[in-house]
Amino acid sequence: MASLSHFLIITVLFIVPFFSCCVNAQLSANFYARTCPTLPTMVRNAMRQAVSREGRMAASILRLFFHDCFVNGCDASILLDDTATFTGEKNAFPNRNSARGFEVIDTIKTRVEAACNATVSCADILALAARDGVVLLGGTSWTVALGRRDARTASQTDANNQLPSPFANLATLISNFAAKGLTATDMTVLSGGHTLGQSQCSSFKTRIYNETNIDPAFATTRKRTCPASGGDTNLAPFDITPNRFDNEYYKALVARRGLLHSDQELFNGGSQDALVTTYSNNVAAFTRDFAAAMVKMSAISPLTGTNGEIRKNCRLVN
Ligand code: HEM
Ligand SMILES: *[C@@H]1O[C@H](CO)[C@@H](O)[C@H](O)[C@H]1NC(C)=O
Ligand SMILES: *[C@@H]1O[C@H](CO)[C@@H](O)[C@H](O)[C@H]1NC(C)=O
Repeated sequence: MASLSHFLIITVLFIVPFFSCCVNAQLSANFYARTCPTLPTMVRNAMRQAVSREGRMAASILRLFFHDCFVNGCDASILLDDTATFTGEKNAFPNRNSARGFEVIDTIKTRVEAACNATVSCADILALAARDGVVLLGGTSWTVALGRRDARTASQTDANNQLPSPFANLATLISNFAAKGLTATDMTVLSGGHTLGQSQCSSFKTRIYNETNIDPAFATTRKRTCPASGGDTNLAPFDITPNRFDNEYYKALVARRGLLHSDQELFNGGSQDALVTTYSNNVAAFTRDFAAAMVKMSAISPLTGTNGEIRKNCRLVN
């Protein structure tokens, strides 16, 4: 009797938790608490340095994470370099000459490997860095669940097909996000990432020259640095405060000053108008909901357990 109850206690205390940890393969905030306790501090310090050097870097890293998660999950696939025998996602249309911040991830990875080698995935580093960039520029923080592993593959085709286009209409944007398990509300909240950063002229040229649901004074201003012909890589901010995580993006949409066609689709007489108006009037509601939606986006199809690998160099499969 005593030995049976001992057996049961041992089973419940040790074996059950062991299996529930690995079979369910859940992400958890304390995944590296014992194996790399300084990880959060290393990422935060590196992001503070990078963002103080260039405020836009918070935006670029946030976008990298979005483009990672939307293509077969948050698995660092976007970080893999093309080689003679491998085609990754970096040269997919939405990323080529546009995705940036890879060197910052390299710097963080180098420091993390020095402190805790072969332990922390590039996918987790990117998830933490994206959060820290947002917080550094005034966003609300969220808890990053960890334990993602890194992909051994990437897909340029999937990146081309699954990342949303700046020329998309509302229905297409909603379905792009639905394909990732995200609602129309999530889509409108996450598009608020465009409170940070800049876009190249080629992505908004047609809008400022040929669309009618645009504030004429705004179109005139944008045309000064985005000519009808040429200047395709010239940059313009998404809102008037590209280095502050605030609700100016939504105020711009209400004023018909959305930069991309896809931005203005969120406030163009459709289903998202009311939410855009709410966020334009309530920055706290936006930053709170953005944090919650980032938690959802961060959980898209992670590799866990024994799937994937812990890359040594974020640019290369081991
Ligand atoms: C809703 C569909 C979306 C579309 C069509 C879209 C499209 C774009 C485009 C075309 C650019 C400019 C790229 C360039 O000119 O080089 C851009 C930049 C950016 N996007 Fe999005 N995006 C979307 C959603 C998101 C989401 C969900 C996030 C993050 C949560 C995000 C974060 C950013 C950031 C921060 C930038 C600025 C990057 C920088 O300055 O380096 N975007 N996006
Ligand atoms: C990690 O570092 C230790 C000590 O420098 C070294 O012996 C070990 O081979 C490294 N492990 C990997 C997987 O690189
Ligand atoms: C605007 O539309 C006209 C007529 O369709 C077209 O010729 C022109 O190339 C367009 N301009 C831009 C910048 O898209």
